[in-house]
Amino acid sequence: MTHERTTLIGAGVPRPDAVDKVRGEAKYIDDLAFPGMLHGWVVRSPHPHAKILSVDSESALANPDVACVVTHPDVPGDNVVHVIYDDQPALARDIVRYVGEPVALVAATTRKAAKAAAEGMIVRYEELPVVSDPVEALRPESPVIVSLEEAAEGGGNLFNEMVLHKGDTDRGFAEADVIIEGEYETGYQEHAYIETQGGIAVPEENGGLAIYGSMQCPFYVQRAVSRVLGLPMSKIRVIQTTTGGAFGGKEDVPSQICSLAALMAWKTRRPVKLVLDRGEDMLTTSKRHPSRVRYRTGAKTDGAITAIDVDIILNSGAYQTLSSAVLWRSICTAAGPYCIPHVKVNAKSVATNTVPNGAFRGFGSPQVIFPHEAQMDLLAEKLGIDRAEIRRRNVLKPGDRSSTEQLLENSVGIAESLDLATEMIGWQDRLEAVAEFNAEHDEVSRGLGIACVLYGVGLGGKAPFLDKAGATMKLEADGSVAAAVGTVEMGQGLTTALLQIAAEELGISIERIQLAPVDTSRVPDSGPTVASRGTMMSGLALLDAARKLRERVEDVAQAQGITTSEIRARWDEIASAFWLNNVDPAVEGWAKTEPVSWDPETGLGDVYPVYAYATHIAEVEVDQTTGETDVIDFVAVHDSGRILNRTLATGQVQGGVAQGIGFALMEDIPQRDGFLIVNGLTTYRLPTIRDVVLDMGVDFIEAEFPAGPFGAKGIGEVPLMAAHAAVAGAVSHAIGRGATRYPLDPETVAGLLKPA
Ligand code: MTE
Ligand code: MOS
Repeated sequence: MTHERTTLIGAGVPRPDAVDKVRGEAKYIDDLAFPGMLHGWVVRSPHPHAKILSVDSESALANPDVACVVTHPDVPGDNVVHVIYDDQPALARDIVRYVGEPVALVAATTRKAAKAAAEGMIVRYEELPVVSDPVEALRPESPVIVSLEEAAEGGGNLFNEMVLHKGDTDRGFAEADVIIEGEYETGYQEHAYIETQGGIAVPEENGGLAIYGSMQCPFYVQRAVSRVLGLPMSKIRVIQTTTGGAFGGKEDVPSQICSLAALMAWKTRRPVKLVLDRGEDMLTTSKRHPSRVRYRTGAKTDGAITAIDVDIILNSGAYQTLSSAVLWRSICTAAGPYCIPHVKVNAKSVATNTVPNGAFRGFGSPQVIFPHEAQMDLLAEKLGIDRAEIRRRNVLKPGDRSSTEQLLENSVGIAESLDLATEMIGWQDRLEAVAEFNAEHDEVSRGLGIACVLYGVGLGGKAPFLDKAGATMKLEADGSVAAAVGTVEMGQGLTTALLQIAAEELGISIERIQLAPVDTSRVPDSGPTVASRGTMMSGLALLDAARKLRERVEDVAQAQGITTSEIRARWDEIASAFWLNNVDPAVEGWAKTEPVSWDPETGLGDVYPVYAYATHIAEVEVDQTTGETDVIDFVAVHDSGRILNRTLATGQVQGGVAQGIGFALMEDIPQRDGFLIVNGLTTYRLPTIRDVVLDMGVDFIEAEFPAGPFGAKGIGEVPLMAAHAAVAGAVSHAIGRGATRYPLDPETVAGLLKPA
């Protein structure tokens, strides 16, 4: 099938959702209202671990503005927030396990009244011993936090334990000329989406519920609400509303928020809105898992890595939510984009009396990327090899096998990204310039850092049943096209990229295609919008639909005596012929990934359908007195296969780099005995426009992925993954000491600057 090609793929097509968002006209969840709508508020545990003695709702119910109070016996279905395991109750039964755990719900005519009534409710607790440190939680004498059998795979507070064994690490270390070791630590990172979590549950005439909400995974929410209400999934319709950022934070948490709104709507038979305050959102919803990671790396004198041995501990918080998926990505990413013959990884996720952690752009990968890149720098120093050069000697090439023994046949652009990034910054000259600068300055010192990453796109071998996507498409009588997909726009530019794909395949202009809001009743379960899979998977599903529609269009055109080359010009005439001749104008598209595999015993397999790669280089200037770090130059080169929209892909890179700078240099929430020490955004330092490099260099290596839509892979999460490690490497270079702990805030860096 040949037809006229437009030039949409790669073009910087403007986003159709941009104007409304910039003008403040887009309708986010808190802008929406339904007739008779109530407002919900959550009564939350003030203790990290306690027994609930009594819940007194009398005072709340005496308030005429209050429509209902909901506690656990009111839950009509299963009292769970279904994510992967069913350990987390929707409303606490007898025990609370983290500060902020929902205990009861109040719905009232106004938000203010709901809040006041909730605050007036008297809940009596008996405090229990608290375990907030994951290493301590693993000790046999520690109190067991989650007693439900299904919660902990490993027994005690060990939620999950995963291993990866490739080759023979004993042999690998015996063959090494040098061996280095290090221990690394990272803390919480807050998603800091512009829009806080929220949902509205609306009873429908069929006895079911419609759920509107800010979210990444409408199909997760559909299942969770159906479980908690005990209703068939077909009676739950989930509609994603304009979502003001997510970054992984709206993968699992909306299942909880929308379940709570649904419980109040179910009890009152009225629409109920539940939107979190910023401070409440930051204290009570998932964050990036704090980590403790130990690395041992062996290499030959020429820099060739012979073996790594890695231990990973992630602090999961009180319930499992997505911890097993997050941990899995840690083991699959632990070897980085390097060809290493002998690899051993042991990874544990551990229950503590802290807020349950979940997905955050990159899942468990930055927790291992910081260490593996720090180890590369240490090796380079020890062997007297340039830091870019030692990476060049080890990076994966087409035909190599990854750390899970996956054969990487094609679309492996890491070496090219490394070459281009070093060329863009002028690596050798810049190193000399930095040395010269440092020789002339005492008050500040500069440093250069480089980081290479690999990132598996999609859910992969841990959850292959989620790697699918559906799309619908219909040709309207006037020639316009209505389409729908099941993955969501959350700011990353998915809608625009998908419209480009559909328009390109149909051979019509983008303006003629409309994507409907994502609604679970409209398209088949398309999995979650996570793991940088959205564009690739929904792109493939839309492409499938567009091909089918295009075939029908060609048949109708032929019947009308219209030649293939005339289709574009006479499109409206053909659409009208569909309508007049009762030709079915609707098609469905479907996509699933190639078989993936994973053997939990060894950790080996073809774990992801494909990998994206990147090389970032950062230059920093560190104040020798205050320890303050400025990022003064930045270069980012990505291989995400064919780039569908250069402007938006560049935006993803710039945003990810900002988030990476934040993770490496400033973002932090101290935790003491189960209490997070943070007062909303007042005490959480986020990077701003002053912390980023406005003219950073961004470029792409387009190592096309034949099975992707027009050769595309995924890009969404990758920029953050490489950025923090490049910044950390640059700080280490500037201060002449290897950093081992995030954030590298002024206090930490000043401490490292003191003579040992
Ligand atoms: N970009 C913006 N602006 N807002 C977001 O919430 N989320 C990130 C990334 N980029 C996010 C973003 C995360 S965590 C993922 S998984 C991907 O986008 C998902 O989108 P994609 O699959 O279409 O790349
Ligand atoms: Mo992104 S953490 O996979 O939602």
